[in-house]
Amino acid sequence: MANLQVSVAGIELKNPLITASGTCGYGRELAELFDLSLLGGISVKGTTLQPRAGNPTPRIAETASGMLNSVGLQNPGIDRVIATEIPFLRRFNTAIIINIAGHSVEDYRAVAARLEGEAGVAGIEVNISCPNVSGGGMAFGVDPAVAAEVISAVRGATRLPLIAKLSPNVTDIVAIAAAVKEAGCDAVSLINTLHGMVIDVEKRAPLLANKFGGLSGPAVKPIALRMVWQVYEAVDIPIIGLGGISSAEDAIEFIMAGASAFQIGSASFHDPQAAPRIIEQLDDWLDAHGVSAIGELVGAAH
Ligand code: SIN
Repeated sequence: MANLQVSVAGIELKNPLITASGTCGYGRELAELFDLSLLGGISVKGTTLQPRAGNPTPRIAETASGMLNSVGLQNPGIDRVIATEIPFLRRFNTAIIINIAGHSVEDYRAVAARLEGEAGVAGIEVNISCPNVSGGGMAFGVDPAVAAEVISAVRGATRLPLIAKLSPNVTDIVAIAAAVKEAGCDAVSLINTLHGMVIDVEKRAPLLANKFGGLSGPAVKPIALRMVWQVYEAVDIPIIGLGGISSAEDAIEFIMAGASAFQIGSASFHDPQAAPRIIEQLDDWLDAHGVSAIGELVGAAH
């Protein structure tokens, strides 16, 4: 058995697999399928100060090698998450990462402040990359100065480890990663979804009610890997890689590109057992290749 333990941003993970925000709710559905304690961590649905109903439907569309979503940050709001969802997740031996989002810098600060001192919360993932909301979301993640402003406000509100979730819808991912590091972030997770669309040719109209959505799944993996590689080479900050991972080999590519941990998202939709399967495959892969600790592979392809 290889050593799968990793530490990212001061968060100790028993293995490097975290279920990605927006693909596992608050863990309740996956908990019916496998023991969440198997996971290195869980990053919950993007949580805002107030509850949000999300975007009108249809808000999911299949594409070749991927899916588009335009959920619009549907969530029950931070008070309910603290009252019911975090206590549920505390039953499991896994790192609880709260993904937070907002319409304004003050929103982000206020949500982070509510989490300060909340038992069992291992860290905060600051979502500055949601492409599906009209105010906030991705708007905060495509300009280095604005991204830094959000992170700096959140940093001032909490001592919890901070992970900035970055958008791929930028010309220079390195500039954004450098800015959030400078503002006090402990790690970055990348990538969130790519902005895209699908046309319903019978209706001669966009398929998603919100016209555009975020593309995830195997289609985005080469882009995500390229961005992880670029950030690893240019910015001294731990990286959590994600984008189209559906096997241990996919995950190892991200680790060799420079990620210390990884998230799986869309893969759970076509294989709800993807997380425990990938953890097992990872262990087998390391044994088969004579690698005693996963950490040895971080950045190994450079
Ligand atoms: C959504 O709720 O629209 C997706 C969240 C995200 O992409 O960050």
